[in-house]
Amino acid sequence: MAELLLKLSSAAFFLFIFLSLTSAFAAGEPKPFSRYISPLSLGINKPEKLSHLHFYFHDIVAGKNVTAVRVAEAPTTSDSHPFGAVVMIDDALTVGPDIGSKLVGRAQGIYALTSLTEASLLMAYNFAFMEGKYNGSTLTVMGRNPVFSAVREMPVIGGSGVFRFARGYVEAKTHTFDLKTGNAVVEYNVYVFHY
Ligand SMILES: *[C@@H]1O[C@H](CO)[C@@H](O)[C@H](O)[C@H]1NC(C)=O
Ligand SMILES: *[C@@H]1O[C@H](CO)[C@@H](O)[C@H](O)[C@H]1NC(C)=O
Repeated sequence: MAELLLKLSSAAFFLFIFLSLTSAFAAGEPKPFSRYISPLSLGINKPEKLSHLHFYFHDIVAGKNVTAVRVAEAPTTSDSHPFGAVVMIDDALTVGPDIGSKLVGRAQGIYALTSLTEASLLMAYNFAFMEGKYNGSTLTVMGRNPVFSAVREMPVIGGSGVFRFARGYVEAKTHTFDLKTGNAVVEYNVYVFHY
């Protein structure tokens, strides 16, 4: 008797689950578009950290192993009037100014000449890091880079991996610039808040 009751109740239980599932599907209940959640649910259980990264950016536009190529320009673009040129980059980031020093990541994205009167860039790129705990994480930079200024500041507008929720800024300082080729080595100091 007890066994029969048990069987009946478990059958009723499965029927209940089945019906609630099918009715949920039938109603097509979507997940809520938005809701508040606890930071803990994303594993955020500590205060923000402030990190300082330092490396060198190698923009090679001519010669061997070019990592920056012009992909578009305006009909009016010329060497004396570079306005409108768009360059795609996959530039090496190394710990020292020598390109042979340890690679810590790459800067992948674009820059475009956006000033009619000076050498000023709109830069939009990701730092794709490869070093230690940063391997696979990214930071996204988007800002204005007047390349002949001593120090250029650009915002870090986000990140991924260890840099989720990142915000901050970079300071870019030209280390060497070859007037003949246009190749440049740029020193970067990056300051970011992240968890
Ligand atoms: C180009 O890359 C190759 C392979 O990594 C390297 O051996 C060579 O020294 C590089 N050349 C220059 C000019 O950087
Ligand atoms: C970074 O991660 C990739 C993919 O997981 C791996 O193949 C590579 O060896 C790692 N590099 C370093 C320097 O840890």
